[in-house]
Amino acid sequence: MQRRPLIAGNWKMHTTLTEARALAEAVARSAADVEGRDVMIAPPFTALAEVSLALRGSTVQLAAQNVCWVEQGAFTGEISPVMLSSLGCGAAIVGHSERRHIFGESDALINKRIKGAMALGVMPLFCVGETLEERDGGNTFLVLESQLRLGLADIVCNDPARLIVAYEPVWAIGTGKTATTGQAQEAHAFIRDILASLFEKSVAGQIRILYGGSVNSDNVDILMAEPDVDGALVGGASLKPESFHRIIHFQGKTA
Ligand code: 13P
Repeated sequence: MQRRPLIAGNWKMHTTLTEARALAEAVARSAADVEGRDVMIAPPFTALAEVSLALRGSTVQLAAQNVCWVEQGAFTGEISPVMLSSLGCGAAIVGHSERRHIFGESDALINKRIKGAMALGVMPLFCVGETLEERDGGNTFLVLESQLRLGLADIVCNDPARLIVAYEPVWAIGTGKTATTGQAQEAHAFIRDILASLFEKSVAGQIRILYGGSVNSDNVDILMAEPDVDGALVGGASLKPESFHRIIHFQGKTA
């Protein structure tokens, strides 16, 4: 069985309510003729309900940009998996490098979020990636392995449709410096090997691994041509309707 490609747009801290509605409507129109691949958008929390309405009748999936690990309680500033599900939002980005580096989210905290989301029916898009310093120091694989093992500690995953991993090298995020296709493939294959050591091999073989970091309409085709690149997590270019339209219509694999 082939892995179904997924293009996900991470809007980060962008869009007012009005802008979010218009952008979601544009994505829904763009995705109307897309077959054999999934399209997802992750607006800010404030726009999730509105975007959920705007996506009614479309195949575009909705994700949040983070998620708490419990159903409800005294967790000021957090949003629970149950709250997301109630909006028709079935996925959440977890462990994004901006959460790790700007807000100090630790591997242990990220692990809690992933575990809680999975237990409460929200699919995590779990992000890992090395900094430039770590890459230059020859530590890329050590960092990836550690983030994966700690982030996925004590997690049972029998169903590959319940988890997505995103490889986002920190030095490639928002910099216009994309990983080469060779660097992306090498990291994705390594991530898949680690997943195979944590879960059943057949499950690891089916978990989708997205690449993120300066993906745009010019480089998406060559990145998607790599065998272990199953999709893209797109930041800046997902805010531009024409660019995102071209990205979701990348040339190449479908399933
Ligand atoms: P850019 O596509 O803007 O580099 O952002 C990537 C990213 O962080 C997606 O989560």
